[in-house]
Amino acid sequence: MSLAIRAEGLGIQFFRNRRRHMRVRDILFKGVSTATVPKGQFWALRNVSFDVAHGEAVGLVGANGQGKSTLLKLIAGVLIPDEGKVSVNGGVAPLIELTGGFVPDLSARENVYLTGGLHGLTRNQIEARFDDVVDFAGVRDFLDTPFRHFSSGMKVRLGFSLITSLDEPIVLVDEVLAVGDRSFKVKCYDRMESMLGDGRTLFLVSHNESDLKRFCTRGLYIKGGELIHDGPIAEVIEHYTSDVDAEQVT
Ligand SMILES: Nc1ncnc2c1ncn2[C@@H]1O[C@H](COP(=O)(O)OP(=O)(O)OP(=O)(O)O)[C@@H](O)[C@H]1O
Ligand SMILES: [Mg+2]
Repeated sequence: MSLAIRAEGLGIQFFRNRRRHMRVRDILFKGVSTATVPKGQFWALRNVSFDVAHGEAVGLVGANGQGKSTLLKLIAGVLIPDEGKVSVNGGVAPLIELTGGFVPDLSARENVYLTGGLHGLTRNQIEARFDDVVDFAGVRDFLDTPFRHFSSGMKVRLGFSLITSLDEPIVLVDEVLAVGDRSFKVKCYDRMESMLGDGRTLFLVSHNESDLKRFCTRGLYIKGGELIHDGPIAEVIEHYTSDVDAEQVT
């Protein structure tokens, strides 16, 4: 069993606010120099280590704002860690936070060619897959519409259709199933099953228990930027839900 992803002591810091300096009002009323202002840095992820073998399907669980999408961005190489490292064996096709890094001002058609090209497909290869990508997404009537004018569901349809049509062995899917409508969800299920059948490695972020159990064998539970449980998916979901229930009681 060969390794697809290895994360070693991964950590990344963000600023809690955009304002790194005092506002004029603060300086006037508090008379503090900007040098004393705390920068509000925090660790969005820290000490995260795990190995994923090729062909594994891993579900990422955790409450909102705990670091799930950030972890996918580190795996995809969209963010660079401040600590530790992540090694990826093979190309990564990410669909994070509902868009696959599409350019808002380019048309749907241009985005398909651009993203396909960035993932190493030749023009001929993209042309050969183009109709399938567009028909699976059901956006044929809007091919020349700028991506920014797509509805959220249309963005996800095109993004999911395209990233799962690339040849990359590692696929990262963030919240897609929650946005698509019923008929698209059914198509997504088939596509995910066939991807896993092909031996691809899948990372799935979802707040839907049955989706996670359907596709993933293993789960990672992220809380406060830390990986607090890595184990069989049912066990990890159980840990997460009992944490949430306990917090609601108190
Ligand atoms: N580029 C950024 N700059 C500053 N803070 C950020 C940035 N990206 C994410 N964060 C912060 O990092 C934390 C983790 O965010 P992340 O998007 O990874 O959460 P998540 O687990 O995916 O949540 P959700 O379930 O809501 O999608 C949050 O506090 C978020 O505000
Ligand atoms: Mg997220």
